[in-house]
Amino acid sequence: MTDYKMMLAEAISGMTDISNEQVYELVEIPPKSSMGEYAFPCFTLAKTMKKSPQSIAIDLSESLIGKLDFIERTEVVGPYLNIFINRSIFCNDVTDHIVRMKDKIGSSDEGKGKTVLVEYSSPNIAKPFHIGHAFTTILGQAIYNLYKHLGYDVYRLNHLGDYGTQFGKLISAYKRWGNDEALAEQPIKELLRIYVKFHDEAKMDPSLDEEARFHFRNLEKGNEEEFGLWKLFRDLSIKEFDAIYRRLGITFDDMNGESFYSDKIPEIVSMLNDRDLLVESDGARVVMLEEFGLPPCIILKSDGTTIYASRDIAAILYRKRKYDFYKNIYVVGNPQALHFKQVFAVADKLGLDASGSCVHVGFGLVKFADMKFSTRDGNIILQEELLNECVGKTSEIIRKNREERQTDMSDSELSQIAEKIGIGAVIYTFCRNSRDRDIVFSWDEMLDFDGDSAPYLMYTYARCRSVLRKAKASDYDPADAVDGFNTKVTDEEFELIKYLHGFGDSIRKAAQAYEPYILVRQLNFIARAFNKFYNNRPILNCEDSELLASGLRICEASSVVLEQGMRLLGISPVERM
Ligand code: ARG
Repeated sequence: MTDYKMMLAEAISGMTDISNEQVYELVEIPPKSSMGEYAFPCFTLAKTMKKSPQSIAIDLSESLIGKLDFIERTEVVGPYLNIFINRSIFCNDVTDHIVRMKDKIGSSDEGKGKTVLVEYSSPNIAKPFHIGHAFTTILGQAIYNLYKHLGYDVYRLNHLGDYGTQFGKLISAYKRWGNDEALAEQPIKELLRIYVKFHDEAKMDPSLDEEARFHFRNLEKGNEEEFGLWKLFRDLSIKEFDAIYRRLGITFDDMNGESFYSDKIPEIVSMLNDRDLLVESDGARVVMLEEFGLPPCIILKSDGTTIYASRDIAAILYRKRKYDFYKNIYVVGNPQALHFKQVFAVADKLGLDASGSCVHVGFGLVKFADMKFSTRDGNIILQEELLNECVGKTSEIIRKNREERQTDMSDSELSQIAEKIGIGAVIYTFCRNSRDRDIVFSWDEMLDFDGDSAPYLMYTYARCRSVLRKAKASDYDPADAVDGFNTKVTDEEFELIKYLHGFGDSIRKAAQAYEPYILVRQLNFIARAFNKFYNNRPILNCEDSELLASGLRICEASSVVLEQGMRLLGISPVERM
């Protein structure tokens, strides 16, 4: 496919005294299509060329015409040169490229040879997988997919919260009140029950805390009984988390949790000592960070035990050695922003260049507009329950549609479709806004089949597929529809194909900013433009063979882009709904 902007930049650069790259940076996409597809502002050149911007624009306009075959016409408006490209050339070229690329559409090799780590999800064992973990899981997976598509070597890391003094309490609680049957059935629920009981009882009997510390010390020493119980709790918790991951289609390359790093902390302590960076503060050993404008980072507590931050510092060193990463991305909620600043600053002081390569990708809070959950407990809303509710509500909608339209959809097909749409709706809601903004979940919005929602995208995709199936049934292969855009391309078609053309750029921008919403927005523009096109002109019932070819070509290209876009977000499209 022609890189229109680049060719334009090269041509303009050849006629002026600035480089390709400079021109490329200056070329704008005008806000309205009546102003052309590209605009070049001439004021930067006015100084060096000692001419008015307007006369530069006029000169350029004259020399450009005829130089590039895809330029249809130009227009000088004040200091701007507006460039209109030839719709036929553009539409044939772009749709041809999309249809040939298929699932590789928007991919690139910009990441070749570069390793990117995406750390996400990271729930705490023996604790529920709450809604904040759902946010990091979905956002992290989308970021992973985007980087993978751009050719990076990407690894998915799950930094499980599987270490800390609370496991001493859990071991005590289990030995006193644990119920094996309940543990086998609903492990996290049972572990949570005994953990809460421990806290209640310890209020009346402080000796319990001493007992818990004893068990934690034994756990750290690797004592068989404590280690065995800890491992049991960990295995059972992972099994529960896995059920959610499987439902979302997620796997990890590395499940090393906090416990994995605990024996790597002595090396960090000695590195810090070698550099004279550890100072004593109220019995604890800390690293001062005033030059970063940050509070000190505790490395060892006064009793010599390690903390969350020390394990994260050890993890950076370990990952540097194992992966030699180009980027190490942490998808973790905004409340931990200070923690990561401190961890990166300490790692910088150890010469690990964390500020150049480690990124904290934060996100806001999750709120609920019109939802009631049975297990709502403070702000703990189980991910599983959210998915179940959403899938259930989707089933109702599809069942109603099935009745109205009297289709032959079987019950099992219906439930498979509902599962995909319901999960898609949850994923979309997490990804549709800039991640720093708080999210409000509302069934009305999530399941609005005509809104800023997954069902809307999925519906549009299913619509494209249905047209293509009908075309195939009458022996028409849209892949044969080459050069279908020789007659007049309508404004609506042109607008849609411009959005399809922008797909690759939206992937690059989304990855660069760690903002999947940039891709979501592009897909929504595509779906809106597609439906406008679909509602305004016949596709299959066309006398004119060129019109038939271009219509089918648009359906094919739109379905490829919509499908790939949804997959990058983690949404599985359906053929009908
Ligand atoms: N387990 C932590 C939590 O649930 C998140 C871990 C984030 N990652 C990290 N490397 N500190 O809050």
